[in-house]
Amino acid sequence: MERDSLDGKDPIPAGALAEAGLRLEIEGPVVTITLDRPERRNAMTPLMWRTMAEIGDALPEAVRIVVLRGAGPSFSSGIDLKTFSGGDGGGLPTTGDPEEGDRFIAGLQAGFTWLRRPEIVSIAAVHGHAIGAGFQLALACDLRIIADDTRYCMKEPALGLVPDLTGTKPLVEIVGVSRAIEICLTARTVEAEEAARLGLAERVVPREGLDAAVAELVAALLPIDAGAAAATKRLLRQAPDNTLAEQCAAERREQLGRLKAMFGG
Ligand code: CAA
Repeated sequence: MERDSLDGKDPIPAGALAEAGLRLEIEGPVVTITLDRPERRNAMTPLMWRTMAEIGDALPEAVRIVVLRGAGPSFSSGIDLKTFSGGDGGGLPTTGDPEEGDRFIAGLQAGFTWLRRPEIVSIAAVHGHAIGAGFQLALACDLRIIADDTRYCMKEPALGLVPDLTGTKPLVEIVGVSRAIEICLTARTVEAEEAARLGLAERVVPREGLDAAVAELVAALLPIDAGAAAATKRLLRQAPDNTLAEQCAAERREQLGRLKAMFGG
């Protein structure tokens, strides 16, 4: 079922989605967001990121799974290079008030951060190129199912920039600081087989099997109780930053909440 709004909350008109280069499908608890500028290899714009943030804000409570995919030959070629073509930063904050610049970039990052929310499991279905912001979008998701033609590349340093769309933390958490430095500062391509070895994919499948593999994962995730899934994701997400004592306390808190939900009056 394709819809132009999300349960009547802050409707996002079909025209606004199309202008942002996005497609949105909601099937019960599963939302699929398609990057839909295949003629530009799903190059991404500030408008696209802000619209993704709006989708996150408007997500109905019943949604459990969010799938991110790309139309055409690639997941995403990263930021639309036309943004830089005028030589003036194309509306990106280049000069002026640092606080305003900070707010501007935070507004773009908001398009990525909601994918880590405990109430949902986000899945990147990646194929072809996932460059720069495209790689960071895949990293923003909880899970990555990738096709065997996937080519990740953190291109930003090669363009004189840094990865600033929330990708550095998950990259380091997954591959470690040294490997992250090597991948980013060479801006080299990481192909599917290596990506899987490094933990940058939960599963690698033939290109033609990508949709089926994602559907299989969704089917395995959905039967788990929504409250238990959210509590467990909350625990797992905070584990790397917690001491053992903090994590044990967090486990106790979450379990007491579960026991109350299951058996309490
Ligand atoms: N921005 C704008 N247009 C893009 C684009 C991008 N990022 N990537 C591809 N396109 C356009 C091409 O210009 C081309 O347009 P025309 O048909 O008008 O010539 C069309 O999409 C198809 O591209 P290709 O013919 O190059 O397709 P391909 O399949 O042979 O190659 C590709 C695909 C490897 C992604 C290649 O297009 C490419 O290297 N693109 C640029 C990638 C890039 O440098 N991205 C920026 C990363 S940095 C970032 O994202 C974050 C940041 O904040 C800076």
